[in-house]
Amino acid sequence: MHPDLERVLIDTATLQNRVQALGTAIAQATVNAPELVLVGILKGSLIFMADLMRSIGREVCYDCIAVSSYGASTESSGVVRLNKDLDLDITGKHVIIVEDIIDSGLTLKYVHDLLLRRNPAALEICALLNKPERRNVNVQVDYRGFDIPNEFVVGYGLDYAERYRNLPYIGVLSPRVYTH
Ligand code: XMP
Ligand code: MG
Repeated sequence: MHPDLERVLIDTATLQNRVQALGTAIAQATVNAPELVLVGILKGSLIFMADLMRSIGREVCYDCIAVSSYGASTESSGVVRLNKDLDLDITGKHVIIVEDIIDSGLTLKYVHDLLLRRNPAALEICALLNKPERRNVNVQVDYRGFDIPNEFVVGYGLDYAERYRNLPYIGVLSPRVYTH
């Protein structure tokens, strides 16, 4: 375990099994959708997205969107900004937004509302992690990996000040790393 962590929350094998199950569920739910597009929210969803799309087992396109709400802090600023838009046209397509973690829900609500205006045939949400205690806007998560407690987690794409994204598991960051 990385020395900056308090504990491992979700180990590699548990992550891989859950991601595989999410891929199977998405494949089953989209059998009648001719065009499936995954939209990853950079940068945190990158590793989840890479594993998820290989577990879907059907033709799928992907694109990425970049937004920011956090900065180098563990608390959301509440302000979401679009930093990079999609390259693909999603009109008439079955779109699934792929996010690493849903906390207040503000980021996903912003992206969902933005993409809905482009008239996709369907617009769903897949989030690896969910902090139910922290939700303050209502968003429907169609595919969910794990509900987790309200602690700051890193690894498997998630960072603190751009560190720890490459850890192959999810761990709780020791508060001493971010409290000075
Ligand atoms: P909201 O509040 O908009 O937050 O739902 C979603 C975004 O907040 C970041 N986030 C975290 N990042 N560990 C992280 O590394 C966490 O525990 C955590 N909680 C929220 C994340 O970027 C997500 O996209
Ligand atoms: Mg993120």
